Formats: sequence, C-alpha cells, structure tokens
Amino acid sequence: MNGFIIKAPGRVNLIGEHTDYNAGKVLPFAIDQHIYITVKIIDQTLGFVKDLKFEFETTMKGQSKFFWSGNQIANFLDQDASQSDFSEDLGFKSETWQAYVIGALHMHFKRYYKTPTPIHVRVTVDSSLPSGAGISSSAALSCGMLAALARLQGITRDPIELATDGMLIEHRFAKTNCGLMDQIAVTMSKRNQFTEIDFSPFYRGGAPKISFIEAHPVFSQYEILTINTMVKHKLSDSPYNQRRETCAHGLLKLNEFLGLNKVGLSEFSDEGLLWQQVGIFGNQQMLKEWLIKKINFSPTDAPKIAHAICENNRVDRATKALVNGDLAALTLAINESHESLAKDYEVSCSELDLLRRTIALEVGSMAKRMNLEVPGLLGSRMTGGGFGGSTVQFVHHKIVPSLVAAFTSPQNPYSSKTKKIPVILGTPPSSGIEVEILT
Ligand code: GLA
Repeated sequence: MNGFIIKAPGRVNLIGEHTDYNAGKVLPFAIDQHIYITVKIIDQTLGFVKDLKFEFETTMKGQSKFFWSGNQIANFLDQDASQSDFSEDLGFKSETWQAYVIGALHMHFKRYYKTPTPIHVRVTVDSSLPSGAGISSSAALSCGMLAALARLQGITRDPIELATDGMLIEHRFAKTNCGLMDQIAVTMSKRNQFTEIDFSPFYRGGAPKISFIEAHPVFSQYEILTINTMVKHKLSDSPYNQRRETCAHGLLKLNEFLGLNKVGLSEFSDEGLLWQQVGIFGNQQMLKEWLIKKINFSPTDAPKIAHAICENNRVDRATKALVNGDLAALTLAINESHESLAKDYEVSCSELDLLRRTIALEVGSMAKRMNLEVPGLLGSRMTGGGFGGSTVQFVHHKIVPSLVAAFTSPQNPYSSKTKKIPVILGTPPSSGIEVEILT
C-alpha cells in the first residue's frame, strides 16, 4: 500500500479585507498550521468514477467516517450543485467537513471523469488548524482535497483554476459567497513572502495578478502573531453575503453616476473622476458624506461602500511600508483598516475590539518596562471575514514571551471580561500546499 500526504496550510491576511470580491487587492500569507490529507491507495487497479470505492475519515472533532461508492459519485455528478439545498439533499450539512469533501469530489470528477483513477483509496483528514478562527481551515480543506484528487490521477493542475474550484465549493456547498483570496493564499503562498493579489484582472475575465513581497530586514525584530478571540466565526450564518450584495448595488449606482464601467468597488480607489468630486484624494470620511449627499446612499450603506474603496489604498500603503521598512506607515495602515472594518463595514465584534485594545495596553506597558527603543507593536487588526476569529499583529520579539504569559493568566482585561483565554499562534509567512510521498 502506498500513497501521499497533502499538507494544506491556513492563511492570515495582513491587510485588504473584503476587497477580494470587490476586484481589489489583498496581502495574505500561508501559515505553518495545516490540514493533513493522507491518501492511502488500497487497490492500485485503475478504473473510472463508477468503479471507485472511497473511504473518508477525520480525526477532527472526534472520529467520523463515511464511504462513497462510484455509483454514488456518478449519480451526484449529474446534479446541479448550485441548488440551494444540494448538500442537505445528499445528507450533509453545509460547512461540515463532509460538505467540503463532497464538494471537492463533485468539482473534481465533473472535470476529470474521463481520467483513470486507482479504484480503492482511504483518505484521512487531520488538522492542526483551529476551525472558526478566521484562518481559513475551510479553504485548506477544499483546496487540499482538490489537490489530493488531482495527485491521485497524476494530473498537474493550474493553481488558479484549482483555487477557483475551491471558491466554488464554498459558494455551492457551504453557502458562503466568498472571494478568492483564501484559496489562492492556501494554494500558492511562498515561505517568508507576503502574497499580494490584485483581483481586478480576475473580475475582467483574466487571472488575478500575484506578486510576492519580501519584508524589509527591519521587520526581522518582530514576530507576526495571530491571536484567536475564541469567538467562533461562521460566515454562512453571518451577514457576509449581505455585505457582498450591498457592494454589488453600490457598484451599479456609482458606475451609473460617474458614467464608468468598473467591475468592483475597489477599482474606484484611485479613480480621479471620483476623488475630484469628493475633494481630497483617499479621504474616507469625505467620501462617505459625498455618497450620501450626491448619490443618495443610505447612512448604513455609504460607509460600507467607502470601506471597500479606501481599504484598497491601505493595501498599497502597507505594501510600500513593508518593502521600505516604514514601521510607522505600516502601523497606521493596519490600525485604520481595523477601525474601518469595525465602524464602517461593521464586521468586527466586541471581543475582537477588546482583544485589540488589550494587546495594545499590555504591549505598551511591557515596552516601557523594557525601555524598548522601537515600537513594541505595529498596529493590530482583525483578520479574515470577521464576526469573531483572530487578530493579526507584528510584536517585537523581546515582548512575545511576556505577552504569551499575560494571556495565559486570566487576569488580563480580555480574559477577565470575556472569560475566554485567547490562543496565540506564531505565524511567519509559510508555504502553500505541499505533497509528501508515502513509501
Ligand atoms: C473571508 C472570505 C474571503 C474574504 C475575507 C474578507 O475570509 O473567504 O474571500 O472576502 O473573508 O477579506
């Protein structure tokens, strides 16, 4: 018996939140926590979909197993996965691990049903990635499973096409209309680099533009920490899909008013025609007021539209700061991003806001005690879709042990108020999906 292990990482987004589906830019990276998909080939005989015997089990959240025969797979390939009750019809709840596995089988075998496959395999899914922490365990599972199925059939896939299938699994099987950031970060990231992705070309029918960014050496004094509020987020139940609709509506009205043909709100971030009318380039407050006064947007929608536009400029500012070693500029962009997500886009929650304040307070007093000559903390913000999950921040390496100690004791302001102990992960930029061969 032989086989292989697919290591699919989680992702953290440094900045550029809710810009991916607005045809904008993001700056994520993969992390060193993974979903492990072990594929053992029990019968090497090659066959086609109807001959298959696939066994799946997971050690995540206790033992759970299921078996899929070739006939079951063949039958459901004919069904329409865009139906709203598709996974329920098959007996799986959306956003459970089975739904992602079934989603991957569906997307993969729809494309490759003519390619022969070893007929009997056992697939085990393990994880060192917490779910609901806002670090994309679901993208890791769906893209990892797609990579595993391709490997099984000896197919080399275009990574962007694979990531796009991963996104469609999320839309059709988990009912979240997410963008493509997580799947690209999980699939294509590189160790020690940030993955800058511009989605404007993608929504114009091409491939997203991907550039790998290395941080200036000054940042080597800092560690990137991802701190979990321990408030589980689940995007399919959250107003995530609503935000997307608000943006789509905003795009229509703004294009109409300015006589333009943008494919996403973030494309307006450097649009001269818009900023001339608003008055000052990039000013989010003035943009909000202008959207209400001139285009008649409601006071709840205008701030959301303004966020989707201005967040894109913050990605540019942060990328420049990372490359040039400008600590102050990076701090400002990160903090402004959080404020905008909390107050304007309204996707933060009281725990995320409190955790951020607690981190700033604790690091501030530790840096003072240590007479640190550089800032202890370079801003702090929620990462991912929001409504719970984690914060991301650069913390000076000398402070990290004291910060970890402060959060393991329930005395810190966050834990005493919420009765939750945040979990801190060291998350340096790591590599995208990797394969290990079992002999
Ligand atoms: C989730 C989605 C992404 C993206 C972020 C917000 O992680 O899966 O596509 O929209 O939220 O930036």
